[in-house]
Amino acid sequence: MTFSLKDRLDAAADATQARLEAALADAPTAGERLRPDRLMGAIRHGALGGGKRLRPFLVIESAALFGLPPAAAVTAAAAVECVHCYSLVHDDLPAMDNDDLRRGRPTVHKAYDEATAILAGDALLTLAFDLLAGTDAHPDAAVRIALVRALARASGMGGMVGGQMLDLAAEGRFSGGAPLALEEDAIRDLQAMKTGALLAVSVEAGAILGGADAPARTALAAYGRALGAAFQIADDLLDVEGTTEEVGKSVRKDEAAGKATLVSRLGLDGARAVLDRLVAEAGEALAPFGEKGAVLAEAARFVAARRS
Ligand code: IPE
Ligand code: IPE
Ligand code: MG
Ligand code: MG
Ligand code: MG
Repeated sequence: MTFSLKDRLDAAADATQARLEAALADAPTAGERLRPDRLMGAIRHGALGGGKRLRPFLVIESAALFGLPPAAAVTAAAAVECVHCYSLVHDDLPAMDNDDLRRGRPTVHKAYDEATAILAGDALLTLAFDLLAGTDAHPDAAVRIALVRALARASGMGGMVGGQMLDLAAEGRFSGGAPLALEEDAIRDLQAMKTGALLAVSVEAGAILGGADAPARTALAAYGRALGAAFQIADDLLDVEGTTEEVGKSVRKDEAAGKATLVSRLGLDGARAVLDRLVAEAGEALAPFGEKGAVLAEAARFVAARRS
């Protein structure tokens, strides 16, 4: 291997941090009046305080397959991360997963308050599309529109938000309290939406930015689907096997909440077997890219083996 995955993850994280810091300045930009201090504090708490920045890494590395330098992909990368950070701020709210700890720090509603956390999430969601609309996302307006549509669809009713709805419904919240006994396929649908969609669109964004042809897009989409599924299984395993110190969030909450996971459905070994298969699938999907696919293949292995 002639690259260090850690160095590449760090480089993507640093570039994304800088782009987000610039977007989250105190001063209003054209079309705005002012940016309230408390809101900006909460947004920065939710968006600038750590995180693996895996989605930005995927945007940047997928675009790199088509010869794009990181600077040409970082604005789209930051946009996807804004949606991700908003999804975490809202996911942690008392009305949803009710978590106090995120990225090793108090969740936004703990550090501030619930109303402010809701608004901070709202503002991050709209910022994502503001970023994609700018010429630094891509000089060609048609490419920017394609990015907007892809991210909107991955984030909304048939994507992440829809998946969050299914996730809460599976707890039995809207049907009398007992968790639903979902079949494996239903759990896979739920997870492909709540988590998989944003990971898959990260890879798709790289392909859109890079002007990928249809075969390359199809190959990357297969990789994105496998990676997204693997990612949530690893998250569910970490909820059972990880420590708060490692993952920076509360653990052992899924079973208590009655979450539908492949760990609850198949057991730890069963879930791990599915995870291994997905990592292999992700690697195979990259075959058309030859040696250039090595970074993304390694990323799939990293996602499965991660402890944080
Ligand atoms: C956590 O995502 C939420 C899920 C989709 C399972 P990450 O594990 O990517 O969170 P950060 O961004 O690194 O904190
Ligand atoms: C979160 O899934 C998915 C989204 C935020 C869309 P989880 O609820 O399992 O994520 P964690 O464990 O709180 O990070
Ligand atoms: Mg959740
Ligand atoms: Mg949660
Ligand atoms: Mg989880």
